[in-house]
Amino acid sequence: MALQRPQGTNDLLPSGSPTLKAFSSARGHEHVIGVARGVLERAGAQFMATPMFEEAEVVKRGVGGSTDIVRKEMFTVFYQGEHGGYVLRPEGTAPIVRAYIQNGLKQLPAPLKLWTTGAMFRAERNQQGRYRQFHQVDYEVLGSTDPLVDAEAIALMVRVVEALGLTGVGVKLGSIGDPEDRERYNAYLRELFTPERERLSGDSQDRLDRNPMRILDSKSDEDQRLIAGLHVQPMLAFLGEEARAHFEVVQGYLRAWGVPFEVDPSIVRGLDYYRRTAWELHHAHIGAKSALGGGGRYDGLAAQLGGPETPGIGWAFGVERLLIAMEQEGLVIPEPDGPALFLAAMDAENVPLVARVAMELRADAHVEFAYRAMKPGAAFKEADRKRARYAAVVGSNEAATGVLRVKALASGAQADVPLADLAAFLAQ
Ligand code: HAM
Repeated sequence: MALQRPQGTNDLLPSGSPTLKAFSSARGHEHVIGVARGVLERAGAQFMATPMFEEAEVVKRGVGGSTDIVRKEMFTVFYQGEHGGYVLRPEGTAPIVRAYIQNGLKQLPAPLKLWTTGAMFRAERNQQGRYRQFHQVDYEVLGSTDPLVDAEAIALMVRVVEALGLTGVGVKLGSIGDPEDRERYNAYLRELFTPERERLSGDSQDRLDRNPMRILDSKSDEDQRLIAGLHVQPMLAFLGEEARAHFEVVQGYLRAWGVPFEVDPSIVRGLDYYRRTAWELHHAHIGAKSALGGGGRYDGLAAQLGGPETPGIGWAFGVERLLIAMEQEGLVIPEPDGPALFLAAMDAENVPLVARVAMELRADAHVEFAYRAMKPGAAFKEADRKRARYAAVVGSNEAATGVLRVKALASGAQADVPLADLAAFLAQ
């Protein structure tokens, strides 16, 4: 049997592939990343990238030992049969902060705005919009505690979905407070859930010991029923004065700019490094459990990874999920332009000439050619199929005179163009 790709992964495919899906369209991925890059670079973000695998410790300390990601979903890297202590990165933030510390990026002017994109790996149960290898576009700002940076980050995220043409997207905004606030909240949750311990799922009993807040994020329906029955107070009710003031300022900016959002007191997020502002973007058709993206502030992360105290905030989109949402809204990803010129030879001996001319013209233009001799009718049909702007067929006459009859496919207009002038002709 032919070999198969690993479960939960996708091949990113060229247009026209028989098994193509919105989320596996290579062009779709490029489009989303290109649109996001435009938005982020116009806001001053610089591109950077980190390795696909990291010391497990970066992820464990960064993402946090009580998260599903670290407890159940990490891919371990083996080489020559040995576990090298590495894991495939499940997300981009801890690696970027590790790189920021290791490469002395603190010396660059703050706030430092960065963006990256690439594959992330989580051994999750496979379902629509949830994969074991998926792709993120990620934006991070290091070196500022200013709530203006939080608001700008959220507004940029909204700008990306708008630039993609999506309309059914809502921002759910919350705050998970400062560490002291979280401790008070966890103490409250521990008191509330301990008498119910036996009714919790095994995972959540474990969460009760490690980090009770994670219970609220449980994927078990029974846990969720129990939570609903207990009328659990939200994290927002436990915010200290500073975190509350910060949250108010962030909301004030968003309101003033007309960025639509809704306060969701129950936002917990699935990663441990967050403090204060945290949010998710949801799409009307994709369901509450699969966010298009999410982010938050992580002021303690750099110190957690052994670096100097450095505040940070950022977000990540799931590229596949954006593509699924776009498909559901009927948004079509623009086809790239066809070739400026399609060249074909009428007889076999002129094919090499056609190939040489095409390759020279490619210094400036998209030019394709036929690998075999073609009759003019077939050549123009092929040029049409490729959506070429111009086409020309080279016979012995053209080869001898060095002048090609170039046809504009849209209008049918023809022009005689010497080979030496072709580049300039196409550039018009
Ligand atoms: P996250 O919420 O874990 O945050 O992931 C961000 C987005 O990645 C999700 O909203 C979703 O669209 C996508 N995603 C996550 N897991 C999967 C999966 N298994 N399959 C498909 N898509 C998935 C983070 O990763 C943080 N690093 C975001 C951040 C950046 N916070 C601060 N800076």
